[in-house]
Amino acid sequence: MQPLTDSFGRVHNYLRISVTDRCNLRCLYCMPEEGVEFAASESLLSYDEIEEIVRAGAKLGITKLRITGGEPLIRPDLHVLIAKLSAIPGIDDIALTTNGIFLAQQAKQLKAAGLTRVNISLDTLDPTRFKFIARNGDLKRVLAGIEAAAEVGFSPIKLNCVLLKGVNEDEISQFLKLAYEQPLHVRFIEYMPIGHADEGWKNHYLPLSRVLEIAEEQGYKIHEKDEVKGNGPSENWEFNGGVGSFGLIHPISDHFCKNCNRLRLTADGHLKPCLYWQEELNVKPILGDEQGLLDMYWKAMAVKPENHEMAAKLKDGEQSHVPTSRRMSQIGG
Ligand code: GTP
Ligand code: 5AD
Ligand code: SF4
Repeated sequence: MQPLTDSFGRVHNYLRISVTDRCNLRCLYCMPEEGVEFAASESLLSYDEIEEIVRAGAKLGITKLRITGGEPLIRPDLHVLIAKLSAIPGIDDIALTTNGIFLAQQAKQLKAAGLTRVNISLDTLDPTRFKFIARNGDLKRVLAGIEAAAEVGFSPIKLNCVLLKGVNEDEISQFLKLAYEQPLHVRFIEYMPIGHADEGWKNHYLPLSRVLEIAEEQGYKIHEKDEVKGNGPSENWEFNGGVGSFGLIHPISDHFCKNCNRLRLTADGHLKPCLYWQEELNVKPILGDEQGLLDMYWKAMAVKPENHEMAAKLKDGEQSHVPTSRRMSQIGG
């Protein structure tokens, strides 16, 4: 079959699947402190329904999956879903993005079920600051999760660090040191204005050029790295003489949409062609109809916009489509 290609010639082989919009944390950049209204549990796709959607996608060239949330590890028996997905012909990479709190308990079972990689959120190395950013939670459990992931053999292990001006920018050098000394891939991420009604975003937005300045100030010799396993938008760097590496995900200061290869499936069953915009397709009415599902993937290709316009938000510029009203936790990043 012809691979999934959009109107801008981009081939899509990567599906990000959110399995819940719920989370045990409330990170500053993701959810308001009071939380958000969660989808009713009956509205979530079942594991069998997710499997059916992925089977259709695999026929069109989807090979990489990422399981996200909310926090995916709070969905009961996630390993059952991973086992179903890893048995689908054509799927060769199943990764997980998690806040890491429940990872130590589940790492072994997930690995045995066929999970290939984990990306773990880690925005600070300071336990008190962790409680401030995540508004709950114990940093020790995340660190135990990272250790357990390494022990069971996940590789590479990527750590996602959203940089927030005035909150954790003073830790850039510690994160660089961690990436220099440990076999970890630290990704610095620009804070994105996804589904944020308020403008508080601008006060904390930090362009990632700061990371390269600090690396230079600290005397690291770095060079661009060709490949880190994964299909994400990260620009990757490694150190001369270092053990790990680091990456920059900077949609706002330098966006990467020309290489976009991904679609998103929300926990309540909507296929989203782009993280940023409102366009989405409701999958539920066509479950049980394989041709309908194949057509739906092609419809997503037809309506996929060329790029996001997050930078316009910084300047209060006009936008060409309607930005999504979903929050990051309702899309899965
Ligand atoms: P790898 O396959 O391991 O490279 O994963 P990834 O970087 O795609 O996944 P992850 O869930 O770890 O995402 C890290 C950050 O990248 C999150 O903040 C995501 O929202 C962001 N991200 C991933 N894909 C896109 C995208 O298409 N557009 C934008 N703007 N951000 C994205
Ligand atoms: N901007 C940038 N990254 C975000 N994430 C969640 N919300 C935002 C945001 N507003 C990141 C988390 C997680 C990944 C899935 O998305 O840190 O690692
Ligand atoms: Fe939860 Fe992830 Fe949002 Fe943090 S960033 S509140 S871990 S969904």
